[in-house]
Amino acid sequence: MSPEFYKIIHVIGLICLFTGIGGFLTYGNDQQPRMKMVAILHGAGLLLLLISGFGMQAKLGIGFPIWIVIKVMLWVSLGSLLMLAKRGVLAPRNAILVGLLIGFVSAYIGLTWKYGFSIPAAIAG
Ligand code: HEM
Repeated sequence: MSPEFYKIIHVIGLICLFTGIGGFLTYGNDQQPRMKMVAILHGAGLLLLLISGFGMQAKLGIGFPIWIVIKVMLWVSLGSLLMLAKRGVLAPRNAILVGLLIGFVSAYIGLTWKYGFSIPAAIAG
């Protein structure tokens, strides 16, 4: 499969994961059926991100640079958010804010690693 295919799966995983994270707002209410969907979205999103992330890494032939290691650690943190929110360690809305911050850093790394982690200036056409 091509890197582009993995990239599409990566973005689909991202959408699922963050739809699930938004669903943390159901915690603390009597929302049992919805909580199940939140867990499914969160878990499926994480799985898709992991598989496609390592798929791209393999296709790109880049080995294990530090930014990949950081992304895996951020991925683990995103994975633990559901448990922290469910157990009340983090208030649901704080868990969402932490998730957004981690998501931003992960996306920034994924989008800018080719440019030395900076945003390239527009090229005049
Ligand atoms: C185990 C976890 C992960 C691995 C191994 C991984 C790996 C990668 C790799 C290798 C790329 C480069 C694609 C390219 O330049 O062609 C990438 C891009 C990207 N990643 Fe990840 N990633 C992981 C988790 C995440 C997470 C948790 C997020 C966001 C929440 C994320 C968001 C992105 C985005 C937005 C891109 C840019 C895609 C593009 O170029 O259009 N990744 N990732």
